[in-house]
Amino acid sequence: MESFISNTADECVRVKAASAALNHITQTITAETVIGIGTGATAEVFVQLLAQSGVEFAHCVSSSERSSKAIQAAGLKEIALADCERVDFYVDGIDEGLSNGITIKGGGAALGREKVIACMAECFITISDEGRLVEFLGKFPLPIEILPAAKTPVVLALQAMGGKPVQRDGCTTDNGNIILDVAGLDMSEPAELEMRLNAIPGVVENGIFAQCPAKHMAFSNHLGVRWLSLK
Ligand code: 5RP
Repeated sequence: MESFISNTADECVRVKAASAALNHITQTITAETVIGIGTGATAEVFVQLLAQSGVEFAHCVSSSERSSKAIQAAGLKEIALADCERVDFYVDGIDEGLSNGITIKGGGAALGREKVIACMAECFITISDEGRLVEFLGKFPLPIEILPAAKTPVVLALQAMGGKPVQRDGCTTDNGNIILDVAGLDMSEPAELEMRLNAIPGVVENGIFAQCPAKHMAFSNHLGVRWLSLK
């Protein structure tokens, strides 16, 4: 019973953040608008609301196989990321975020395609509960997608940087790779760290979204939404 109540409350909080993103998008949506869909429970709430709204737009582009299933189940149109030339809005959950738009993502192991879409998007909007707004990054271990064959050299490189990488149990990404969750890295210069980590041979992508930060961030609680708009 307790878990039912808390799931319902979580859902309610997710609906608030996702509705705020939808309201923002519908102010400028047209029949040509392309909407990128993130991955996770909050992104799936957004998909439901988008479908229920009945607003006309061109199609979705999905960041994961999980989200493609949600998009299809909701009856929305989707084009493959491989065929996508532009994205107007990208809406996604986050694991942690600073009020300047820099976030950590990858809790759902979809960070690779998520970053491609976030960086293509004209407007990246994050949707999450208020607990994910942080003053300093790093409480959430940083997800890094790597080539399985490069596991040992990448682990050693991360340890040399002060990181404590742990392979995520039973996790193979949509791209056939594995995820290392890395605590202990100095996250004080996220943009530099994002580039440094991606320069390690064998790293496919890391979960710091600093080069492509959010333009708007919706942080919700059971009472409402705090909406941040960044330059
Ligand atoms: C997936 C992600 C998710 O957006 C993040 O983990 C938040 O998910 P949820 O909405 O389920 O809390 O980065 O790779």
